Amino acid sequence: MSEKFRDFLKSSCWKTIDFSTTDQSRGIKPPLAEKPCNPEDRRIDLVKSGDWQSINKVSVEAAIAQRKSRRSYTEDTIKLEELSFLLWVTQGLRGKRSAVRNYRTVPSAGCRHALETYIAAFRVEGIPKAIYRYLPMSHQLVEVAKHQDLEGLLTQAALDQSFAGKSAVTFIWTTIPARMEWRYSRVFYKVIALDAGHVCQNLYLACEAIGAGTCAIAAYDQEFADSILGIDGIEEFTIYMAPVGKV
Ligand SMILES: Cc1cc2nc3c(=O)[nH]c(=O)nc-3n(C[C@H](O)[C@H](O)[C@H](O)COP(=O)(O)O)c2cc1C
Repeated sequence: MSEKFRDFLKSSCWKTIDFSTTDQSRGIKPPLAEKPCNPEDRRIDLVKSGDWQSINKVSVEAAIAQRKSRRSYTEDTIKLEELSFLLWVTQGLRGKRSAVRNYRTVPSAGCRHALETYIAAFRVEGIPKAIYRYLPMSHQLVEVAKHQDLEGLLTQAALDQSFAGKSAVTFIWTTIPARMEWRYSRVFYKVIALDAGHVCQNLYLACEAIGAGTCAIAAYDQEFADSILGIDGIEEFTIYMAPVGKV
């Protein structure tokens, strides 16, 4: 019986998807590539690629060889420039964009990019402690929520894995599945999980260039994580987390 769940990981549905019935084929406009925010929401400009001064040149080979999951961090802050770099390597824009495709620094099935990036910023130079969301289109952060005891909330969201609240910044990725459904209908969710893996791997490797470390977290409290981000858990929900701190 439980073997049925394994089907989620298979690509058998390619033979059964009726592409003529997808929203894309029916000429329905694609969902927005970036979740909108209110014009009055506070935004923070990030440092752009090309203006970074303090990102070390690390070879791909060295970054891959040194990468490991790191769950213990120093008390050091990270610079806004370093955070800008980490956000760009995980979801930043690359090249041309249109209503249907916006190329990023990471691959995505059908170029649908069904993820949003939130951060719980505990110790980032120049920005108050709060939850923010990354806006890839303008390379900005928008403030989402200020909570009392943000560290405690993140620890609880990570099912008491305390390093989630002891980082300089904890990444929380959500998915808006409608972006993927528009092209692939409701049968092909595994690609969203595959996409998230690429994103987190880029984070691991980029951390090696700023003297930081990270650790993927998939063991989290779904409903609690969604609640601290203020998302509905249906049209958008948490899919992955990764605390980052200096090591
Ligand atoms: C999808 C995924 C989920 C993970 N979830 C957790 C987690 O919830 N907590 C944790 O401490 N480590 C988690 N890890 C980290 C793994 O434990 C770690 O990658 C593994 O032990 C291998 O160690 P390495 O990354 O140092 O090579 C996760 C890793 C992946 C890829």
